[in-house]
Amino acid sequence: MTLHKISITAFTVLSIVFHAQTKKEMSKLIQNEFQFADQQYKILMKGIPNDKMPQSYKSSEGKVITKDISWWCSGFYPGSLWMIYEQTKDPEIKKEAERTLNLIEPNKTFTRDHDLGFMMYCSFGNAYRITKNPKYKEIILQSAESLSTRFRPGMKAILSWDKMADFKAPVIIDNMMNLEMLIWASQNGGTKKTGEIAVTHANTTIKNHFRPDYSSYHVIDYDVNTGEVLGKKTFQGYSDSSAWARGQGWALYGYTMIYRFTKDEKYLIQAQNIAKFILNNPTLPEDKIPYWDFNDPKIPNVPRDASSAAIISSALLELGQYSKGEDRKNYVDTAKKMLLSLSNEKYHAKPRENGGFLLMHSTGGLPLNSEIDVPLIYADYYFLEALKRYKDWYL
Ligand code: GLY
Repeated sequence: MTLHKISITAFTVLSIVFHAQTKKEMSKLIQNEFQFADQQYKILMKGIPNDKMPQSYKSSEGKVITKDISWWCSGFYPGSLWMIYEQTKDPEIKKEAERTLNLIEPNKTFTRDHDLGFMMYCSFGNAYRITKNPKYKEIILQSAESLSTRFRPGMKAILSWDKMADFKAPVIIDNMMNLEMLIWASQNGGTKKTGEIAVTHANTTIKNHFRPDYSSYHVIDYDVNTGEVLGKKTFQGYSDSSAWARGQGWALYGYTMIYRFTKDEKYLIQAQNIAKFILNNPTLPEDKIPYWDFNDPKIPNVPRDASSAAIISSALLELGQYSKGEDRKNYVDTAKKMLLSLSNEKYHAKPRENGGFLLMHSTGGLPLNSEIDVPLIYADYYFLEALKRYKDWYL
C-alpha cells in the first residue's frame, strides 16, 4: 500500500469513528432528553387544574401559568405528551395525553381566530400519527373545515385576527403554521378546498410578507375586499421593519412544510432563502440561540428566545431532507448546534425545577411586556419535535 493510500484509509477510518461517536452521542442525548421529559412532565401535570393547559412558569411564585382551551397554545401540551409517549411508552403519559385531547376536542368548531392549526394539528395530528385512531382523524378534518371559514377570497388569505389593535384585516406570518392542518386534511380524506386555501394563502404571503433579504414582516394589514396592502407592521417584534425572531422561524418552518406537501420548488427556494437570512445574520450568537428580535439595537443585552431556536432547528432538519451538499450540511449542523445548546444547562431545566417545563429563556411578547425570558410550552413542543426528527432522519 502506498503512503498516499494509507493516509486516505486512515482518514476515512478516523472520519467514520468520529461520525459514529457523534451519532452515538446524539442518540444517547436524545434518549436521555425523552426520559427527562417523561419525568419532568409528570411534575408539570400535577401543577395544573383539570380544565386548563400549562403555558409558562413564574419562578418567583413557584407557580405554573395556565390558559383556557381556546388559547392558541392549547395543542402543544397534548402534542408534547404524545411525542414523549411515542419514545417512552409510559402509560401515565399516554393517559394524560388522552385526557387533554378530550379537553380540547370542543375546539374543533372554533372559528374566532386562525390558530386552530396549532391547537388541533399539533395535538390530534401527533395522536393520529401515533395511534391511527380514526376518531382523531375525523376531528382534524372537522377542524380544517372550521379554519377554512376564515379564508377571505378578496384578499386571497386567511384572516388571522378579527380585532386587534388598529388593524383592519391582519394576516400574521405565524399563520403559515396553521396551513399544515389544512393541506394534510385535503390529502387525507378531507375536501380539496382546504388544500387550495393553504396554497393560496402561502402564495399571498410570499408576495406581501417578505423583504428583499427574505426576512418577514410580522403583520400585513389588508383591505379584506380588494386585497390591497394597507400596512406592513409588527405586533410582537421590535419595530415594523425589524425581524422578530420567532416570526422568522414560523416562516422557515411554514415554507419547508408547504414544499413537503406540494413538491413545488418555489416553496423550497423560499425556505432556503429564509434560512440564509437567519443563518448568516450577524446577530445570531455563537450558541445559535437567537435574541428575541434580530434587529433589537440593544443586542447583546436583550433576552434570547429559546422557542425560536427550537422552531428553527426543527425546520432546518426538515429542510436538510430536501437539500444537498453544503446547504444540507449547514442546516443540519446548525440545527444540531441549537439542540446541543438547548440541552445545555444555560437553557435546560434541572430535574424537578422550572415547574416541570423542559426549557428556560423564551420570549413571548416583549413589546407587550408579556412572557419575557420564561419557559413556554411551545418551546418544549418544537424542541421535542426537533429531537425526534434528528433521531428519525440523521441517526
Ligand atoms: N403565534 C403567536 C406567537 O408566536 O407568539
